[in-house]
Amino acid sequence: MIRTEGLTRRFGDRLAVDGLTLEVREGEILGLLGPNGAGKTTTVRMLACLLAPTGGRAWVGGHEVGKEASAIRSTVGILTESPGFYKRLTLERNMRYFAELYGVPDPRSAVQRYLERLGLWDRRTDAVATLSKGLRQRLALARALVHEPKVLFLDEPTAGLDPESARDVRRFIAELADERRTILLCTHNLTEAEELCNRIAVLRTRLIALDRPAALKRRMSGSRVTVELGNPRPEFARDLGLPCVRAAELAGPTLQVEVADPERDVPALVRRLVELGAEIRAVARDERSLEDVYLELVGGNDAPA
Ligand SMILES: Nc1ncnc2c1ncn2[C@@H]1O[C@H](COP(=O)(O)OP(=O)(O)OP(=O)(O)O)[C@@H](O)[C@H]1O
Ligand SMILES: [Mg+2]
Repeated sequence: MIRTEGLTRRFGDRLAVDGLTLEVREGEILGLLGPNGAGKTTTVRMLACLLAPTGGRAWVGGHEVGKEASAIRSTVGILTESPGFYKRLTLERNMRYFAELYGVPDPRSAVQRYLERLGLWDRRTDAVATLSKGLRQRLALARALVHEPKVLFLDEPTAGLDPESARDVRRFIAELADERRTILLCTHNLTEAEELCNRIAVLRTRLIALDRPAALKRRMSGSRVTVELGNPRPEFARDLGLPCVRAAELAGPTLQVEVADPERDVPALVRRLVELGAEIRAVARDERSLEDVYLELVGGNDAPA
């Protein structure tokens, strides 16, 4: 649904996005993560035809960026970092304005549908200026959807929202994906990325990783298993004799074991320890959080341009 090939954007001497190649499938939520200045917003702006690439190519819904801008604009909905509205006009007037701009066939009912879905129908006759930040963010989402786009670009949709509003917005995003919409989600919230995204792209001017959240964690996870013993004895480390065990070390009541694949090897390790007469109090896998993985990925010396 979205495809980029070597997509690049320069601002003068500065490379903001360097040779980005990726694909987002229909109905997929792809998380775009990366430190400030990594090029996330620049990528979204290029794909939404708000900013011209300086290199590479991209397609959205089968239309080529730079060649079929108006077809792309009607295919995509975009939630920007700071959405602008006509603040003195009502929510309904603002929504109607955009619906008509996009040539929505029945603007009145489309506006009602999305104001209702975002819990804003009661506020429809209020001026946008009177909305709180979170309510304005919901209005921006309603506006991004009013022309029923198949592709959505959401740039930090829950930034600055209270926990409950953020959860509502996340649920709403999940519903949108259930409706087979394709979503590119820029976020700094790793829990949100893990919860919502089918895959995560980590960007730091260049693409540095692209995988499912669980696979990213597994790829980077330590293969260490920690066993707490009630009766620590040296032979528990010495006599394991399992092919999957690479190293084992006993320190006090704690046995640290390096295995090839923790997911597969823990049961065999536990069985073997029981055979040797070990009294096992606890077994823990050294599993890392997505945050650890992310920090390691972006923490290289190669700073963003
Ligand atoms: N219009 C512009 N003119 C010059 N430089 C720009 C422009 N827009 C973006 N940049 C630069 O491009 C780089 C990428 O910016 P971008 O806004 O895409 O980052 P981001 O990943 O969205 O960051 P954040 O997490 O802070 O939103 C930054 O160095 C930024 O300063
Ligand atoms: Mg940004």
